[in-house]
Parts: sequence; structure tokens; C-alpha cells
Amino acid sequence: MDYIITTEQLTKKYKSFVAVNNVSLNIRKGSIYGFLGPNGAGKSTTMKMLLGLTAPTKGSFTIDGKQFPNDRLSILKEVGSFIESPSFYANLTGKENLDIIRRILGLPKSSVADALELVGLSEFGGRLAKKYSLGMKQRLGLAGALLGRPPILILDEPTNGLDPSGIHEIRNLIKSLPDLYDCTVLISSHMLSEIELMADDIGILNHGRLLFEGSLDELRQNALQSGFAADNKISVANLEDMFLSMVDKDNASRKQRAKL
Ligand SMILES: Nc1ncnc2c1ncn2[C@@H]1O[C@H](COP(=O)(O)OP(=O)(O)OP(=O)(O)O)[C@@H](O)[C@H]1O
Ligand SMILES: [Mg+2]
Repeated sequence: MDYIITTEQLTKKYKSFVAVNNVSLNIRKGSIYGFLGPNGAGKSTTMKMLLGLTAPTKGSFTIDGKQFPNDRLSILKEVGSFIESPSFYANLTGKENLDIIRRILGLPKSSVADALELVGLSEFGGRLAKKYSLGMKQRLGLAGALLGRPPILILDEPTNGLDPSGIHEIRNLIKSLPDLYDCTVLISSHMLSEIELMADDIGILNHGRLLFEGSLDELRQNALQSGFAADNKISVANLEDMFLSMVDKDNASRKQRAKL
């Protein structure tokens, strides 16, 4: 299997608190990998480690054949990212904000208009970033990640704050990216129902531990075998139920272990 991102026992501790616990991910080249978990599961922390924004306490990872930490800079050149809520220069327009990133990356001028078009912001490129709505800021963040058409995109909850039609649009955009320019997308979310519509593969994280990794089909099979499907039909709701039950079971066994 051709994996473009692999992590080995990636771990992040804040003092004695383990935020990410021995996580080994295998992300296929050209896939959309949905990274799923409730609040505080460790999704952002894992993504930050992949981007060199916070140092792992233990473990290692490889991105497109490059090993962290030795190849940190060349890894960054290949990855477009959107982590939590991106910040911008409030007194510059959307277009000017993107132009700053464009210059740093040494990209042609036309890439700014391309990226604005891609996220549906062309009309508002000349508006000050401080006057953008929340959804427009999310789109601008996504445009920044897409600017250099990087082979790998790491997107931390990019649909946060978008209205239903915005979610739909951004989801379709993300879905189209691997075919559009041959990239791999790692995207996080709280909701399996959201991720299910986009992802090829799924990793489920709870309290820093990876509870499941596999294809959407494997997850569906799991749902069938675990009795979550009614009449052998698996709906989005069944999968969401299974996800919640996986998390609940893990939480219960954590409590049990804590008592012992
Ligand atoms: N700098 C820090 N110092 C101490 N604890 C931290 C720090 N950053 C994150 N944590 C803790 O690590 C855990 C994982 O946080 P993280 O932000 O990775 O979760 P998440 O899965 O992204 O959650 P959400 O869905 O709410 O964004 C949380 O318990 C959080 O409080
Ligand atoms: Mg997060």
C-alpha cells in the first residue's frame, strides 16, 4: 500500500496528561482521510505535531518519504494547512492576506485569484478581513491552505461555523480536490455523518487513543457485525450511533481502569 503519511506511536504529553497516546496512522496517497473524535480527543494536537507546531513527546512520522524532524522544512513545503480558526491581518483585504502567503511561498500572482475562486470568495476578495463573516473567514483560511496547490492538505474542522449550504459547498470542494490536482487530504471532524460524505478512510480518536482505522466500508461492516444496522441496511444514523457507542465503551473502560 502506498501511504503518504505514516505516524508511529506518536505521543504528546502535557506534564502528566497524555493528549495523544501512541497513535499510528496510515494515510493512503490520494485519499481523503477523516480524522474523527469528540472534543478534546487530540485531533488538533496530532495535526499540530504533523506540521511541526508542537513537538512530539514520543514517536515519529513520515510525510511523503520525508522523516520528521530531520526533513521538517521540506515537509512544510508540501503541506497546506488549516488549523483551528486561522488568523488574518484584520485591516487587510482577503486578497491582500492571501498575497502575503503567496509571496512567502514564491507563487505566481494568479494563484491568489485562483484560490479565491476555488473557495467561492472572488466577489469578496476586496473586503477587509475584519468585515468577513465567520464562514467567509473559514473560506479564506481554506484558500490560504490551497494557495500553492500542495500535494497534502491538513484541514482541522474546516466547516466549523459554516451555514448548511456553506458546509455542502466546502464538502463538495474538498471531495473534488484529490481528482482536481492529485492531492491527499487529512480532515478532522466531530461528526461521522459529516465525514462519511467525504472520506475514503477513517481514523477514530478518543482520549488520545486510536480506536479504529480503516476504510468506510470496513467501518460499515463493523456496524453490521456489531448490530448497529437495521434490516442489514446501514444508514448515516447507524454509523453515527456506532461511533458514539465506540466512544462510550472506551470511556467506560477508562473509568473502570481508573477505579482499579
Ligand atoms: N498546550 C496545552 N497544554 C495543556 N493541555 C493541552 C494543550 N493543548 C491541548 N491540550 C489538551 O489536550 C487534549 C487534546 O486537545 P486537542 O485540541 O488536540 O483536541 P481536539 O480533538 O482537537 O478537540 P476539539 O474537537 O475540541 O477541537 C485536550 O484535553 C486539551 O485540553
Ligand atoms: Mg481541535
